[in-house]
Amino acid sequence: MKILHGWFNFSLLTLAVIAASIAVVWPTFALAEHANFKDEVYPILKKHCLLCHSPGGQGYEVSGLDMSSYKALMKGTKYGPVIVPGDAFTSNLMVLIEGRADRSLKMPHDSHRPAPTKKDRVNLRKWINAGAQLNNTYKKIIRPIFNSYCVECHKPGGIGYERSGFDVRTYKSLMKGTKYGSVINVGDAFNSNLIMLIEGRTKGKLKMPYVPQRSLSKWEKHLIRAWIIKGAKNN
Ligand code: HEC
Ligand code: HEC
Repeated sequence: MKILHGWFNFSLLTLAVIAASIAVVWPTFALAEHANFKDEVYPILKKHCLLCHSPGGQGYEVSGLDMSSYKALMKGTKYGPVIVPGDAFTSNLMVLIEGRADRSLKMPHDSHRPAPTKKDRVNLRKWINAGAQLNNTYKKIIRPIFNSYCVECHKPGGIGYERSGFDVRTYKSLMKGTKYGSVINVGDAFNSNLIMLIEGRTKGKLKMPYVPQRSLSKWEKHLIRAWIIKGAKNN
């Protein structure tokens, strides 16, 4: 009986733990279901848009929108981004593809050309809603941001490293955090110390980068947040 009783308690506990983990992991799961840029997104753009939206093309000449690389696509038109990571609905790219803007602006521009299929549109939406990331976000996007804003002080010998122990040079050291521990709360950008510091939300009003006149762009902050929410992977 005693054994049975113990088992019962154990199984209840296990169930509770499983339920709690599902609750915690669920939002990340929802985000994790995403289309892959190279295999599922780029081919759609290549087929339907590149003819006009690469240097020399008419769409590029008029709007400045070049879709021949991830970087150029994310840069957008001469007026700014056409993709809002995490929000396909308000992304101009989807507004145009779905014909939700002025009719004359539906893309592809030339009405004789086949439009992206329903499946294509679903993939584009999924990819944007999941943060519009490249598959190798850490190496291509995140590390370069830390290299340009943080590494001068956060490497051995730098003032930031000497005071806090935080070294941004490698994925490992970044994840290790300061001498007090991790500054990245995987899956939860809002409560990550790193994001609080970048956004100036800490109690002590400490803000990074340490030099007041330098700050990450809105867009760069967004990319780091999206990367953390999606699991802060070493990809
Ligand atoms: C036949 C040429 C052509 C094709 C194909 C084409 N576009 Fe365009 N695109 C244009 C032209 C021309 C403009 C400038 C329109 C204007 O400002 O009147 C433009 C502008 C745009 C803009 C910017 C609109 C703005 O708000 O300034 C977006 C976004 C866009 N295209 C997306 C796409 C997408 C996505 C595809 C593929 C599904 C695509 N285009 C395919 C010619 C094309
Ligand atoms: C000009 C030098 C400088 C730059 C650039 C800089 N930091 Fe710092 N950083 C510091 C100093 C100095 C401290 C220690 C501050 C203190 O404890 O008063 C620090 C501390 C930190 C800490 C630990 C804070 C804590 O609560 O213990 C983190 C995390 C951090 N920086 C992240 C960053 C990030 C991310 C960047 C780039 C966006 C960055 N820093 C850029 C100088 C810098």
